[in-house]
Amino acid sequence: MTKIIWMTDPHFQNEGLVDDLNPRTRLKAAIAHMNAHHADADFMVLTGDLVGDDIEGDYRLLATYLAESKIPVYPLVGNNDDRAGFRAHLTLPENTMDEFIQYKVDTPDATILCLDTHMVGSHAGQFCAARQEWLAAHLGDMPTYVFMHHPPMDLHLSPQDEIKLADGDAFLDLIANGVDHLFIGHVHRPTCGTIRGIPFATLRALSFQAPPPQPPWDWSGFVPAKEAPHYGVLYIENGNVTLQHTDFCEYETGIER
Ligand SMILES: [Fe+2]
Repeated sequence: MTKIIWMTDPHFQNEGLVDDLNPRTRLKAAIAHMNAHHADADFMVLTGDLVGDDIEGDYRLLATYLAESKIPVYPLVGNNDDRAGFRAHLTLPENTMDEFIQYKVDTPDATILCLDTHMVGSHAGQFCAARQEWLAAHLGDMPTYVFMHHPPMDLHLSPQDEIKLADGDAFLDLIANGVDHLFIGHVHRPTCGTIRGIPFATLRALSFQAPPPQPPWDWSGFVPAKEAPHYGVLYIENGNVTLQHTDFCEYETGIER
């Protein structure tokens, strides 16, 4: 059996708040909870939006927080990330692509593919020909699970659907017969379902939560939902997957005014 801890969107800053949230408190609480209860997991995957605007300072301090994890951490890039910052401060597998933060992790039960959907200068995502080619070459006979930041399809989460993977259809064509589950960050809300027959899931963020699409809201009036964060605990065995949503702190944890 392979056990994976899945966390997403810490929006870590080396100082200050994100709205009224201290993202350092949240990440610390998540890692402490994981260390206390799931240190037997094989590794943790962090599906993007790791930092704020201070690329150098945020990644440098983030690395010290992640170093507290008792299990290896595999980080992905989101729209709020920087590839140079990743390479300078975070530990990446040797098989990581030269140009992109895209790599695979082999387990006895599955091939884990961690994708790079970052588009420089955009909140939407991109999966270009080079990244597609790499992915095509890594689809094989093993059960294959993809972790990625941007959803390749609409989730009926307006206005978040505007910033999905821009070339999602090409991505979905590519994975049609070779991927067994998608694990997606970015939307700061839990959803699950299937896309072209492939199961997918999203999570709450470690940081702030996006409000539900009703009543309608727009980015200029964004107010986080007062919901507690969670992370995912995944069990993979014999081609089967279980995802458990795991609360690790109260909503109030890290709220400062
Ligand atoms: Fe995010």
